[in-house]
Amino acid sequence: MIEISDLNVHYGRVRALTSVSLSVDEGKIFAVLGANGAGKTTLLRSILGLTSAKGAIRFEGSDITSRPVAERVRRGIALVPEGRKLFPDFTVAENLRIGAFNRKDPDGVRRDIDEVCEAFPVLKERYQQEARTLSGGEGQMLAIGRALLSRPKLLLLDEPSVGLMPIFVSEIFKMIASVARNKGITVLLVEQNTKKALAVADRAAVLELGRIAFEGGASSIAADPRVKEAYLGG
Ligand SMILES: Nc1ncnc2c1ncn2[C@@H]1O[C@H](COP(=O)(O)OP(=O)(O)OP(=O)(O)O)[C@@H](O)[C@H]1O
Ligand SMILES: [Mg+2]
Repeated sequence: MIEISDLNVHYGRVRALTSVSLSVDEGKIFAVLGANGAGKTTLLRSILGLTSAKGAIRFEGSDITSRPVAERVRRGIALVPEGRKLFPDFTVAENLRIGAFNRKDPDGVRRDIDEVCEAFPVLKERYQQEARTLSGGEGQMLAIGRALLSRPKLLLLDEPSVGLMPIFVSEIFKMIASVARNKGITVLLVEQNTKKALAVADRAAVLELGRIAFEGGASSIAADPRVKEAYLGG
């Protein structure tokens, strides 16, 4: 459903991505792993149209390479960026509704809000509280919930588990698996938590200095001795 070929991104003289190609089938989870500065965030931003990338990006069969960000969002691409970017002065409820701003089915929106609150009960408890008062983990759940409210076809997640306690990490990975398996949402998951990401993903790639160093089925990537040594602690 998303097909990236020969993507190249420069920031001035810095080469962030070099000849990156990958594709993800509908409803599958694809993990993108790699060290700090490897180009993971750049890849997600490029899919949304936030970089001046060269190459080709096809989404559901259409070439979106030069389409504006707003159109990509309208077509069903949602990004949960690093550091969440919630609206701190708005309540949990308002943040969720902002995610649905493009939709015209209020009943569906209400159902989806209920569903998010069921998956992340803490959001129900904090429903009328301002987003600024949430803990890091709660905020991350809200950011994912807000993205889901746009009914995305492709969900781009940039390090959703960073800085969270193991219990929150498990909740978030459970949610990721469930949206892919039960809703058919395609997920591109950038993670430093290599072990957990490979456990939930169907396929994975490792970026090194902006190039794909390894790519394949998640279990074969997890079993690769070179990946084990560099990213799974031996
Ligand atoms: N706006 C920018 N201007 C200049 N260089 C940038 C910019 N954004 C990223 N870079 C550089 O591009 C490279 C890739 O950065 P990117 O943020 O994609 O890495 P990352 O894999 O997401 O890293 P991290 O794990 O630290 O989030 C890095 O060398 C970074 O310094
Ligand atoms: Mg990053």
